[in-house]
Amino acid sequence: MRIGILNSGGDCPGLNAVIHGVVGAAAAKGWEAIGFRDGFEGLLPPGDFTVLTPKDTEGILKLGGTILGTTNKGNFAAKIGEGDVAQVPQEIVDRAKKTLDQLEIGALVVVGGDGSLTTAMQLHDQGWPVIGVPKTIDNDLQATAMTFGFDSAVSCVVDSLDRLQTTGQSHKRVMVLEVMGRHAGWIALWGGMAGGASVILLPEIGFSYEKVAEHIKIREAQGYTSHLVVVAEGAKLPDGNLATIDSNCGGEVRLGGAGEQVANAIESITGKETRFTTLGHIQRGGAPTALDRILGVRFGVMAARLAEEGKFGRMVSYQSYHVDSVPIKDAVDKLRLVENKTEVVEAARSVGISFGD
Ligand code: F6P
Repeated sequence: MRIGILNSGGDCPGLNAVIHGVVGAAAAKGWEAIGFRDGFEGLLPPGDFTVLTPKDTEGILKLGGTILGTTNKGNFAAKIGEGDVAQVPQEIVDRAKKTLDQLEIGALVVVGGDGSLTTAMQLHDQGWPVIGVPKTIDNDLQATAMTFGFDSAVSCVVDSLDRLQTTGQSHKRVMVLEVMGRHAGWIALWGGMAGGASVILLPEIGFSYEKVAEHIKIREAQGYTSHLVVVAEGAKLPDGNLATIDSNCGGEVRLGGAGEQVANAIESITGKETRFTTLGHIQRGGAPTALDRILGVRFGVMAARLAEEGKFGRMVSYQSYHVDSVPIKDAVDKLRLVENKTEVVEAARSVGISFGD
């Protein structure tokens, strides 16, 4: 038996842990593991791949990114907007299938987010022996309580807030931090709560500049002299628009700029000196946390188990501390978003965090 693995879409801390898990579990079963380079592109003839043994994955747990490379562009790019996906052209699928057949790949593990998993589903519908592993720092996939990479991104946000807090306090400033997450506010919510933010602005909860400024003024009256504001890149601005850098970057909107706009509005309404920082790809790079390494390895091992059991068209899923699997379709139907009236949001409100609403 030969098992193939590829990473597709944006990179994410913990990808190498998944590779380590798949390769280790495959070797234990006496199988050969093949890693395809740069996502699905590695499947196009003549094929760009490498045989992976446990020795090849020794020491990669601690590495960010992916030793196989990845892409969110190219022939297999499936995302065409918020939750929308396109089909990969049949001619491309047929060419890639030739490589799969020539190499006699008995199972193909696709590690990706909603766009890549939708492609995986398309391939499975055509009879490919595909198994999905969910990957995204945004943590916005249905049918899995957590994806690896999220914890690492949140840790980076928290570390940044810790730093912004000391400089903000010294200068009695409002410090605004824009974080990733695309159309979901999980990174902003978790990062903001753990980092002691007083305002968190999310894509899921509409906000006004006046409410944000009012909250800051109330805090000032209470004796607080500096304030941390976390802005999710996908937070809709009060005019109803997203802050974008590029409306069509390989079929996907490229978000950015919300933090700066919020900072300008806060400074002009409150008169308080305000600075903004855009964290950007720093939160996606670097070493994965211990949690993400373990999650990644467990996901990889489960993917190999699903291959052994012939459970194709399924995606590894994390539920109630257990790693299990669900049909890929359940994961990609729609995004998992933060809900307003939930315990975690209520908890944040209870400790004085404003969502600007
Ligand atoms: O989906 C992961 C993510 O990091 C988002 O949080 C962010 O909006 C996007 O990817 C950035 O993509 P790129 O690396 O293509 O700029």
